[in-house]
Amino acid sequence: METTVIRIEALTKHYSTPATAKPALDDINLHIKRGEIFGIIGRSGAGKSTLIRTLNLLERPSSGRILIEGEDITRYDDSGLAALRRRTGMIFQHFNLLNSKSVADNIAFPLKLAGNHDRTAIRRRVDELLELVGLGALRDSYPHRLSGGQKQRVGIARALSNSPSVLLSDEATSALDPETTQSILELLASINRQLGLTIVLITHEMQVIRSLCDRVAVIDGGRIAESGAVSDVFLHPRHAVTQSLLAETGGMAGADLAAVRLQATGPLLRLTFVGAATYQPVLSIATRETGIDFNILQGSIGRIKDTPYGQLLVEVMGTPGALPAVTAQLDRYQIHYEVVA
Ligand SMILES: Nc1ncnc2c1ncn2[C@@H]1O[C@H](COP(=O)(O)OP(=O)(O)OP(=O)(O)O)[C@@H](O)[C@H]1O
Ligand SMILES: [Mg+2]
Repeated sequence: METTVIRIEALTKHYSTPATAKPALDDINLHIKRGEIFGIIGRSGAGKSTLIRTLNLLERPSSGRILIEGEDITRYDDSGLAALRRRTGMIFQHFNLLNSKSVADNIAFPLKLAGNHDRTAIRRRVDELLELVGLGALRDSYPHRLSGGQKQRVGIARALSNSPSVLLSDEATSALDPETTQSILELLASINRQLGLTIVLITHEMQVIRSLCDRVAVIDGGRIAESGAVSDVFLHPRHAVTQSLLAETGGMAGADLAAVRLQATGPLLRLTFVGAATYQPVLSIATRETGIDFNILQGSIGRIKDTPYGQLLVEVMGTPGALPAVTAQLDRYQIHYEVVA
């Protein structure tokens, strides 16, 4: 089976006269694999909403191609478009529910739009979806009686009603408090696991990416700054915008370095331990084998999706010649390190 479900090639979007204004999207190339949760993060105005809205043609690209399951959707006519919307469910920051319809009727709406008029089949499907999102008891309630988290659960059920192959999420948790955000992220993760559903989500919150996504693209000024596995991009950020987003959310990359540097006299190393390596007593081994001491200046442990990681910022004590002996030791244990300038 084809493992790439979405392929974006040389995608450009101009909202205004092409030749003059800066494009909202500029030469975007990405592929999204079947069954993964792919995150797109960037600052306000970076082009996240524009990008995700091109995937179901809520925005028409100015140039480039978007292949979904091998078909170039940018060529679709109206009937192709209707089918595309059924294959790409979408959830929104402000839920976009129909306030005059009950929970069940909101969820049934896309089924009816798709031409399904079998009332028994619709009822069965709606009940199945209510169960999936944990809202069985609220089937006859109206949106104004629901909390934000419950509204988003209805939004998710509605987006899944026509069994799409991709779920698109545009800042789906941005209007929710942290606890509710966590429960919606857990629901998305469990839907991804249970149904093998591919999810593409945009967010400006690093925590959303960290807890949910397999891979991430960082977008800045309409261009992809960097992309890759979340553990690679977040633990070894190369682009300044990634580094600054991480620094703001308590990631160590770039954080408080100036202050730390003032206290230290020896060379600084940032060590990253991922997975099983997180639990190895590498520093004490290195000290024992090299006779060189370390001063631990900062440390953090965390989790990226299901993988634990740790980062330590250490000062190498002793003579200037100590550093090569230490890095040789770290290489031997295959510990990732950066010499912090
Ligand atoms: N309908 C529109 N018409 C003209 N320009 C637009 C339109 N929508 C977005 N833009 C511009 O395109 C650029 C990208 O906007 P977009 O909404 O995609 O950013 P975003 O990353 O989603 O931002 P935010 O985090 O604030 O939602 C911005 O410069 C924005 O002003
Ligand atoms: Mg947006």
